[in-house]
Amino acid sequence: MRVCWSNLTRFPITSTESNPMGLLDGKKGIVFGIANDRSYAWYITQALIQQGATCLFTHLPGDKMERRCRQAIEELGVKEVWLKPCDVSKDEDLDAVFGAIKADHGKIDFIVHSVAFADRTFLELGSFHKTTRAAWSQALDISAYSLLAMGQRAINVMPDGGSIISMTYYGGEKVIPGYNIMGVAKAALEHTTRYLAFELGEKKIRVNTISGGPLRTLAAMAVGGISDMFEHQQRKASLRRNITGEEVGNTAAYLLSDMSSGVTGETVHVDAGFSIVGL
Ligand SMILES: NC(=O)c1ccc[n+]([C@@H]2O[C@H](COP(=O)([O-])OP(=O)(O)OC[C@H]3O[C@@H](n4cnc5c(N)ncnc54)[C@H](O)[C@@H]3O)[C@@H](O)[C@H]2O)c1
Repeated sequence: MRVCWSNLTRFPITSTESNPMGLLDGKKGIVFGIANDRSYAWYITQALIQQGATCLFTHLPGDKMERRCRQAIEELGVKEVWLKPCDVSKDEDLDAVFGAIKADHGKIDFIVHSVAFADRTFLELGSFHKTTRAAWSQALDISAYSLLAMGQRAINVMPDGGSIISMTYYGGEKVIPGYNIMGVAKAALEHTTRYLAFELGEKKIRVNTISGGPLRTLAAMAVGGISDMFEHQQRKASLRRNITGEEVGNTAAYLLSDMSSGVTGETVHVDAGFSIVGL
């Protein structure tokens, strides 16, 4: 069992204990994107549970994916796991998941979108200009359109309003060699966040995205030159270090709680001050 210090509480908490006065007491939501216990979504879930939230989950279809996802969730001490298969590029899968939320829980308060995919052939250094139409469409569909697809379905399960977050990276703002088509998808995700925030604001649904620093996950390992990114981050970031999954988890808990009730449409950087440095 992992023990960590939470910035949001004054005492160490374990992954199975929830904070008696949590920021998310009584709130329920769904998390898309736990592949294993290294995923950003896993760290986010850990923080949400620590702050009193109840979480529902999806996994990429397939027995192996389900097993790994369930195992990672159980490590967090979740007793009864609500877990459904969902390929976010399929409308029928999303309809089934949001239908099941409605049937089983009536309404939810938050959504965590921590999902991305691009054909790794085009994530090699120098391969951006070779990106095919199919690879472009697939990357933007899975990594960016899926947020919009969740947002439009959220209206039906968030009658009292709610909060939606996604995960982005600095490669959506600037050229990070090797990040390539994923950078274009992140630019789309960040601007989708703003348009969605504007329209869903009327329904009291907030939409924000967290720009996290590099973290050693399955998805990160597919990006060309990733080792250089960690090294560069450590040298250049204002705090002269990489960030932790817990730091992103804590920011997610804040954005999904009422503590951030006036914040929507934002890209919140959790990158140890990397993106503010020009040279
Ligand atoms: N790791 C980093 O350095 C880093 C930095 C900033 C942002 N991010 C972003 O964080 C998010 C989570 O990635 P991660 O780094 O935790 O890696 P990860 O591999 O642990 O998570 C990616 C998830 O996307 C899911 N996924 C891929 N295609 C899917 C599809 N068609 N339908 C449903 N799910 C699908 C995978 O199953 C997996 O759970 C992504 O948006 C990623 O771009 C990662």
